[in-house]
Amino acid sequence: MAIEGPVAIILAAGQGKRMNSDRAKVLHEVCGRPMISYVVDAARGAGAKTIVVVVGYAADQLYEALDGEPDIRFAVQEEQLGTGHAVKVCRPLLEGYEGPILVLVGDEPLLRPEPLADLLDRQKRERAACLLGTAEVDDPTGFGRILRDSAGRFLRIVEERDGTPEERAIREVNPSCYVFELPALWEALEQIGTSNAQGEYYLTDAPEQLMRMDRKVLALNVLSADDILGVNTRQHLAQAGEIMQARIQDHWMTEGVSIVDPRNTYIDGRAQIGRDTVVRPFSVLDGAVKVGDRCKIGPFAHLRPGAELADDVEVGAFVEVSRSTLDAGVVVRHLAYLGDARVGANVNVGCGAITANFDGERKHATTIGADAHIGSGAVLIAPVAVGEGAVVGAGAVVTKNNDVPKGATVVGVPARPIATKSE
Ligand code: UD1
Ligand code: CA
Repeated sequence: MAIEGPVAIILAAGQGKRMNSDRAKVLHEVCGRPMISYVVDAARGAGAKTIVVVVGYAADQLYEALDGEPDIRFAVQEEQLGTGHAVKVCRPLLEGYEGPILVLVGDEPLLRPEPLADLLDRQKRERAACLLGTAEVDDPTGFGRILRDSAGRFLRIVEERDGTPEERAIREVNPSCYVFELPALWEALEQIGTSNAQGEYYLTDAPEQLMRMDRKVLALNVLSADDILGVNTRQHLAQAGEIMQARIQDHWMTEGVSIVDPRNTYIDGRAQIGRDTVVRPFSVLDGAVKVGDRCKIGPFAHLRPGAELADDVEVGAFVEVSRSTLDAGVVVRHLAYLGDARVGANVNVGCGAITANFDGERKHATTIGADAHIGSGAVLIAPVAVGEGAVVGAGAVVTKNNDVPKGATVVGVPARPIATKSE
């Protein structure tokens, strides 16, 4: 099958020893999504049509996490012999493709598409064999440093472990965001060796090698320090999460959502929130939850995966909602749990009421019709349905399959009807 360009290669074969984990490093999550998903998004956003992910350590975990994404292909690097070698193993897959390739690393989840698109564009206009995105940072520890001559022209990249103290003082670093031209890169990779501190094939030697081959190489300072945070440890993972969380919240605030206490709020990268919704302190929106317009969330609300709230819904203190849809105007103010529930419009769920959705083996559904009132401390044992406009008294236990008819009032343990509203 012909390869459609531009192509992006994302290096993700390493174990990430310092994570001290059984999981592939790039699958550790930042705001609910694996790191590599953000890098894939950035590559796509920059215009990449084919994305080659280089896998090695825990490859099966990566196949599973990125399964079913039609623009992604995998190249296997059996032994991690260095970043240059990792790119080289993509060659058979890209046989016949000539043109630009963007090379990125899977452990930089904060990359944004705009500077990458800029690099691709500049590479085309400059007809460069290599265009290197660089960034200036306060603390360059851990990065390769960018060496330039007195006129400011790029000379080469020196890895931290291979650098002199003077070189290590340089604050312009290599974030591993490159655009190379194929087939020139393949030729350069044939020339690089392993005479360095780690005995590895360094991709960072490729730009210098291309210059030796009289090819044009440019290093452009187009990335910002925030974009290039590389996650090598759990500490870095937490830092990346903090920056990503701020970006997610910033996005929703721009879209018209009030977040009362940003530092004490957590919003998953896949959540959707409507205009004029207010999120109060200590609330957690976990997973791809959906929240409508003018909702009031929290304080201390926990919306879990599969929670879908229509407009004007209130979910208050210590309420947990999981795999449930709440229609417009539903009010659940305190200490309630809704799991696997479909809740009709304007239903009021009292303090401490819960759906008992798990029988020890399986989860079951609860349906609550519009305008129903569920009293404080009521237990709805699923599978069960409460009809429209019905009232479940405080403390009642509605047993499974004993559906409450429309308009009925039930009380007690087990719940039984006491009166029926006329229709
Ligand atoms: C690399 C760069 C360094 C740059 C830094 C941050 C090299 C030699 N150095 O160093 O200049 O500042 O990234 O972007 O490239 N990987 C493989 N196969 C391998 C080795 C690594 O797929 O054989 C993958 C890793 O999974 C990781 C990425 O490449 O996603 C970078 O590897 P890592 O070991 O983190 O490189 P750094 O030491 O950070
Ligand atoms: Ca790294």
